[in-house]
Amino acid sequence: MEQVFYSLKVIEISKPTYNSTTVSFTIPKGLLNTFQFQAGQHLCFKFIINGKEEERMYSLHNSPFENEMYQITSKIKDTGLVSKYIATNLKLGDIIKVSEPKGNFVIQPTENCCKTHYFFAAGSGITPIFSMIKTILLKEKRSKIKLLYANRNITDILFYKELNDWKEEFSERLEITHTLTKRFLDTSQIGEVVKRGRINEEMINEFLNENSLEILKSEFYICGPGEMNQMTLDTLTELGVPAKLINYEYFSTEGITYDDLNSAANVELDALIRNENYHVILNENETVLQGLKRVGAPVPFSCQNGICGTCKTKLTDGKVEMKSSMALSSNDKKHNYILACQSLAQSTVVMVDFE
Ligand code: FES
Repeated sequence: MEQVFYSLKVIEISKPTYNSTTVSFTIPKGLLNTFQFQAGQHLCFKFIINGKEEERMYSLHNSPFENEMYQITSKIKDTGLVSKYIATNLKLGDIIKVSEPKGNFVIQPTENCCKTHYFFAAGSGITPIFSMIKTILLKEKRSKIKLLYANRNITDILFYKELNDWKEEFSERLEITHTLTKRFLDTSQIGEVVKRGRINEEMINEFLNENSLEILKSEFYICGPGEMNQMTLDTLTELGVPAKLINYEYFSTEGITYDDLNSAANVELDALIRNENYHVILNENETVLQGLKRVGAPVPFSCQNGICGTCKTKLTDGKVEMKSSMALSSNDKKHNYILACQSLAQSTVVMVDFE
């Protein structure tokens, strides 16, 4: 099933930092159901740049429980064609093409829940986490939040003012530790807990000790580039945190390695999707996702790059190899979950179940 894009109008554009752009838009009444979302989910945007279609995912950073304005923030990268386009070409009133919300990196607040949510974010990885924090502050009033947030410099910190305001307003519930990687920086102006350097194993242990970790009364969320996610995941696992309490998402392909793999032609693929069976004969070097899309199966997917985990499915028969599996936890792998967008068949028959 091809991704459907809807036309939405840009109603506000702002620059939260020197190198980022926030785009706000509203959802017409007729599309409100389609665009219902959970904190942490992302949208896919399609732009035509230099006559070519370019698709990128951006996480919503508003909360589903606040106003009707939807917001994404794009950080301008030197090589970022789309982020530069958003920063320089997008104007108020422009119509943008946007897909419905997707993603499994989510939080569903429970009113009477009383636990500690630990967040680990680097750079733009704060965007889904910002929505999650806002949602917990609004809807899970007995829970606490501890955030460890890495940036290069103080001027790179996204949502710095809002985070500070929340820290004042919810001082009993929200604690924030910034870590800055740029050396010789005067951090006196930041006026709060600041560490130096990238998030690493030692820093995570220190942060958790400082914040009185009680594993079974906590939940953990990680969003950053490949290496940081993997290292944080490994560190938490070594500390004895059960896999079901760790949630994570990659915000870029940086740090992800893709293996060069092949598959044979004429592989029989059967996929169970929403209680319907879909049968496909896979072409040579065609991924499970590509085969299912080709026959119009309603297969869930988003990034197609092994980042978001939306295409996660259970392998129930046969063998596949994945070009990248970083969006899967070790628990997922142990239970035979695969990423359809990264999987190439290595047996003549493959069966998957999208549950
Ligand atoms: S579609 Fe995102 S990981 Fe497969």
